[in-house]
Amino acid sequence: MPALTDTFVLSNGVHIQKLGFGTWQIPDGPDAYNATRTALDVGYRHIDTARAYGNEASIARAIRDSGIPRDDIFITTKLPAEIKDVSRAREVHAQTMAALDTDHLDLYLIHAPWPWTSIGSDHKAENIEIWKFFEELYDAGTARSIGVSNFDVDDLESLTAATDVVPHVNQIRWFIGNTQGPTTAWCKEHEILVEGYSPLATGGLLDNAEIKRIADKVGKTVAQVAIRYLLEYDVLPLPKSTTPSRIEENAAVDFELSAEDIAALDAITDTGR
Ligand code: A2P
Repeated sequence: MPALTDTFVLSNGVHIQKLGFGTWQIPDGPDAYNATRTALDVGYRHIDTARAYGNEASIARAIRDSGIPRDDIFITTKLPAEIKDVSRAREVHAQTMAALDTDHLDLYLIHAPWPWTSIGSDHKAENIEIWKFFEELYDAGTARSIGVSNFDVDDLESLTAATDVVPHVNQIRWFIGNTQGPTTAWCKEHEILVEGYSPLATGGLLDNAEIKRIADKVGKTVAQVAIRYLLEYDVLPLPKSTTPSRIEENAAVDFELSAEDIAALDAITDTGR
């Protein structure tokens, strides 16, 4: 399935598989292990995790047991949003490397510009210092690419004005009805790949009648249309599932949506929860 192996090319030349396996809300232990093993069996080669998900070690075990060479797999993880101090960041990064049992990350992200307990609070100065640490990791090759998550235009402008490496990626909540216009446009203008988490609106768009109408018309499922929609905009989808049949279904997105169907999907606004 080409979506699993085709790549976007980041601004630094690193290739990243166009479809990633999202692991947010997959509990550590058998759930994360089995879901990752299934994803790898189906052919996913891009796994997205985070220190905050608590499942890095199970994912690493699944990757190791799969027998697939490490270099064939793209691993993204994230520095927890509440870590805004460089010495703590160094410690937590070391924990991540130990849990993932690897000498390099393919992509390392700042999970959010602010702690989840104070969304919107201003940590711009601290993020600049954290980013300098990320640049160190990038220069050392410990992270092949570096980026951010949940950053808006203001956050991105402040970070890039004060640092050298423009983030390679911004991972944001992106799905039909929630396409983050200004942030997406800013990222494209600055050659920052946009990754979309919750491409199914964490399940919230699955019973949308208009998406169902289009899905029926093109002979695909609502989930497949929703995931394909991101690819039509060159946004990298990170669908999450623990159900083997769905993990497989979500990767079968090698079809095209017509301009008319995309326009109809663009007009939908009631998908968010
Ligand atoms: P489950 O993990 O039980 O299979 P998102 O990727 O937007 O975060 O959405 C994830 C949610 O959507 C999970 O609850 C997941 O359930 C569900 N889901 C994932 N893929 C599908 C699918 N193909 N059909 C229906 N539900 C799905």
